[in-house]
Amino acid sequence: MAPRCGPRGAPGIHDMRKVGTLGLLGTGVIGGGWAARAMHFGIDVVAADVKPEMEQWIREAVANAEPALARLTLAPLPPKGRLSFTTNMHEMARRADFIQENIPEQLELKQRVLGDISRTAPPDVVIASSTSGLMPSDLQAKMVAPERLLVGHPFNPVYLLPLVELVGGGQTAPATIEAARSFYTYIGMHALHVRREVPGHLTDRLQEAIWREILHMINDGVATTGELDDSIIYGPGLRWAAMGTNLIYHLAGGETGMRHMLHQFGPCLKWPWTRLEAPELTEELIDRMVKGTQDQAAGRSIRELERLRDDYLVAIQQVLRQYDIGAGATLRALEQRLYADQAAAQPSAAAGAALAPLAGAVRPEWIDYNGHMTDSRYQQAFGDAFDALCRRVGIDEDYRARVGMYYTVESHTTHRAELRAGEPFYVETRVLAVDDKRLRLFHSLYRQRDRVLAATGEHMHLHVGAGSGKTVPAPQPIRAQLERIRDAEAARAFPPQAGRAIGQPRPAG
Ligand SMILES: NC(=O)c1ccc[n+]([C@@H]2O[C@H](COP(=O)([O-])OP(=O)(O)OC[C@H]3O[C@@H](n4cnc5c(N)ncnc54)[C@H](O)[C@@H]3O)[C@@H](O)[C@H]2O)c1
Repeated sequence: MAPRCGPRGAPGIHDMRKVGTLGLLGTGVIGGGWAARAMHFGIDVVAADVKPEMEQWIREAVANAEPALARLTLAPLPPKGRLSFTTNMHEMARRADFIQENIPEQLELKQRVLGDISRTAPPDVVIASSTSGLMPSDLQAKMVAPERLLVGHPFNPVYLLPLVELVGGGQTAPATIEAARSFYTYIGMHALHVRREVPGHLTDRLQEAIWREILHMINDGVATTGELDDSIIYGPGLRWAAMGTNLIYHLAGGETGMRHMLHQFGPCLKWPWTRLEAPELTEELIDRMVKGTQDQAAGRSIRELERLRDDYLVAIQQVLRQYDIGAGATLRALEQRLYADQAAAQPSAAAGAALAPLAGAVRPEWIDYNGHMTDSRYQQAFGDAFDALCRRVGIDEDYRARVGMYYTVESHTTHRAELRAGEPFYVETRVLAVDDKRLRLFHSLYRQRDRVLAATGEHMHLHVGAGSGKTVPAPQPIRAQLERIRDAEAARAFPPQAGRAIGQPRPAG
């Protein structure tokens, strides 16, 4: 079956569909998180839940996720996806290109509902289950075309944590795993393929081992919930964010790494430090857990704590991005894809065409105290337009590493009209001049609604060699493309705002 490619959304793989619309089955905590993430990266969402009141819930969940998501990356985003809601799961299954099931963790319920929607959803629609621990082979039991089912297990909050475990069942086709990997990567996630289906997949097995120990230690009166959390927060938790237990233990073994570590501490593993059986969940144990975590919350509501958690999750990922490690590497890869998509929207330079305008919208956090787009964000919009130009002429990650990059050495901005939060705008970029080392660009930023010129930016860039930090001539093929772009608009009047100094009379136009 040929992939049916829509105008927007994630790429399709092999026989599975390109994803423009995500269908959600069950819109609780996890369904809401999927909706927020998918919509943020331009995917439409059709959400289905048996309870009509979940419509308001999911809309609020998406709105609550927005402030943190909006800060995750400054890379150019596609227009936000649209959300619709239905209590009819068959309507959802007819409209969706990819279905994510998020109903309660009960095998029989999931089997029945998955069997039911698999009769409506065409066989080239992947169906993924968010199950925390059920086996995909069991979930396939009553399905039509079970080869398109897999587990796609996310982590709360789905809109900020990139991990999703992919687990195939006995009947899952390899193309299903690849299609799911492609879709999840498109919406900024790290798809971890769990190659053998085991109860609890990988991550929940590890998390549960720790949780079991916590319950034992609370039960035995060894420590409070707060003390046990401190034992992670101030130590291993910081290490885990980028390296995980195994690599960190390798470092702890000195020059000989893991081998020394196992010789030294391996025998302890035989001592009964930890227990595998969970303790009895008595009322007393439950009370101690509840009282302990309430003390830790210190009067803060779940919403307040969620906001705090979201803020630091964004900040941690941005720090890790600098080191290109763990979730930071995922974020970096996502941004490269977003910039590449933006550049691909430009027509080919070979045709000698002028640059297509770069579309954007004023994000809520770009607003100053007057309710208008703040100064630094104009630089950002011009920077994005410069990035799009660079990619169009072939200056990408590889070029920057091997050859060099244009550095900005001088800038001049003029402000002529305001933009409000959410307002769409577009930036037109002209190459005013180019020689072997210098590139002079002029950007005009227009308000979309009335095509009023809101700001201009003029920049001089110098071509600097990779590693040397010295100006060097740009390679001929790059210069030739820039010259073609310059020449395509050579007949246009020179912009009156170009070449100005501060304090000169304002030009008209
Ligand atoms: N909560 C987590 O931290 C977490 C993390 C990862 C995965 N999961 C998994 O995600 C799934 C959902 O968990 P949750 O925490 O979002 O649960 P939840 O209780 O918050 O949401 C479940 C939703 O499913 C709806 N529902 C019930 N039956 C339905 C049906 N037949 N058709 C359509 N909707 C139906 C309910 O009305 C509810 O809105 C579970 O399989 C769980 O294991 C949960």
